[in-house]
Amino acid sequence: MRIDVLTLFPQMFDMLNSTGIFQRATSQGLFSVNIYNIRDYTHDKHHIVDDYPYGGGAGMLLKPEPIFEAVEAIKEEANPQERVPVILLTPQGSLFSQAAARRLSRHGHLILICGHYEGVDERVRQHLVTDEISIGDYVLTGGELAAMVVIDTITRLIPGVLGSQDSPEDDSHSNGLLEYPQYTRPAVYRGWSVPEVLLSGNHAQIARWRRQQAIIRTFERRPELLDKSSLSPEEIRLIDQLKDAPPSKDTMAD
Ligand code: 6GU
Repeated sequence: MRIDVLTLFPQMFDMLNSTGIFQRATSQGLFSVNIYNIRDYTHDKHHIVDDYPYGGGAGMLLKPEPIFEAVEAIKEEANPQERVPVILLTPQGSLFSQAAARRLSRHGHLILICGHYEGVDERVRQHLVTDEISIGDYVLTGGELAAMVVIDTITRLIPGVLGSQDSPEDDSHSNGLLEYPQYTRPAVYRGWSVPEVLLSGNHAQIARWRRQQAIIRTFERRPELLDKSSLSPEEIRLIDQLKDAPPSKDTMAD
């Protein structure tokens, strides 16, 4: 997979190409992340990328010309048969999710545009961008951190990027539930024991316990997720019992 990022702050992406999993995966050729400075696609002496909004109002907007030219230059090098999503990172976008990450991870090429200032000229949205993504209901200074979140989430789904030991199937959200509790050695730490079932070696029982714990945890922390996950009749009865039970420590305020 090839990911091209358009930004006003290329240095912010140095971390991506210089850390652990990313370095390994990029050096194995599983994906590449290319960073482009939007300023390099200006033609004026001062490399101006922003301007005042027509009609007045606070703040500056990203001008359309350098963004269009940068995307067109990238597309020129790309396979013309391929549909390449052009994604604008903006708080006005649709909310990013594991499902959205899975969809995007199937593409061979993505172009990400990091929004800045008060936003971008609307013609970028209308005539260049195919998707708009927000990573949550809060406002960041720019799209760079959001782009890194999206890149991290997508690239770890590419086969071979994670070691075969860390399969993404059990992750929180991959089955619509939060992940079950996990323990490692020692079996007893400061008097706190690992649940007996995990030491039993009975894999069917362990799987059942984990599934139950995932449901309980999801019920307590993110009950709205349960509406979208597929549950057995027995699991629905478990949730009905939880609804009648007093709150556990996880649901109480600190
Ligand atoms: Cl994608 N950009 C900005 N500036 N703020 C955000 C965001 C994106 N997602 C959540 N907040």
